[in-house]
Amino acid sequence: MSDQYCVIGNPIAHSKSPEIHAVFAAQTGQDLRYGRCLAPLDGFAETVRSLVAQGYQGANVTVPFKLEAAALATRLSERARAAGAVNTLGFKDGEIVGDNTDGPGLVADILRNAGVALANKRILLLGAGGAARGIMLPFIEQRPQAILVANRTRATADSLAAQFAGHGVQVTACGFDEIDGPYDIVINATSSSLSAEMPPVPASAFARDTLALDMMYGSAPSPFMAFAAAQGAATRDGLGMLVEQAAEAFLVWRGVRPETTDVFNILRP
Ligand code: ATR
Repeated sequence: MSDQYCVIGNPIAHSKSPEIHAVFAAQTGQDLRYGRCLAPLDGFAETVRSLVAQGYQGANVTVPFKLEAAALATRLSERARAAGAVNTLGFKDGEIVGDNTDGPGLVADILRNAGVALANKRILLLGAGGAARGIMLPFIEQRPQAILVANRTRATADSLAAQFAGHGVQVTACGFDEIDGPYDIVINATSSSLSAEMPPVPASAFARDTLALDMMYGSAPSPFMAFAAAQGAATRDGLGMLVEQAAEAFLVWRGVRPETTDVFNILRP
């Protein structure tokens, strides 16, 4: 029987992960099946236990269960512990191993697909919630010059910056009204695009060679991307990150990292 995986979320019908992993499996000749799993909002742990009992090898975890997945795991990777959230579970030898490939996926998308280095760059990170926290350690590992965390609620930015101090990279916090620029890379890690809003980032944050990346994706550019483009910045949405986090999860489970160009072209011809 094929090895079985799925993505657990609520809602889950919109997820592109089964399509992505089917392409990866065909491309690498791996015998696996990957489906969607809708977990009740109060039934995440039970859903995972049922998958383990059915012999699944692992699962991806999406909204709103990433924090619960971290709490449920019997073992966490260093990057999952730093993120405080899990998007990739492996079921092996009675253990539930939690990992997080979101941050490495974003880094891979910037380095490989956008062709932009992070080393020695000045990075402005908008937002200080779960999505922002998940990318801090993978970004720091790329040795940028500095990371400024800007958030609507200043205290949350302060505590995120404090958590990642001491890694040899300057990490500071501010409110949106204190942002000065321009920055080499501006990441929108707020959930503002979900409500078709944009964080109140000033035009001075962007220059012509700035890369402005929204971690969300949709059929049209987000208000953040449209604003950044109007300032002359190069823009990118979160589709590349989605594909790359899936490739990283495939690597965790199968020991081989698939090529991502094919699937990227299928999702966005
Ligand atoms: P996620 O897991 O997507 O990061 P989260 O942990 O709830 O979700 O964090 C949401 C982030 O988006 C927070 O940084 C939030 O700012 P606050 O801490 O001030 O709440 C930010 N956010 C959401 N909507 C926003 C908006 N319209 N403008 C600016 N920031 C916004």
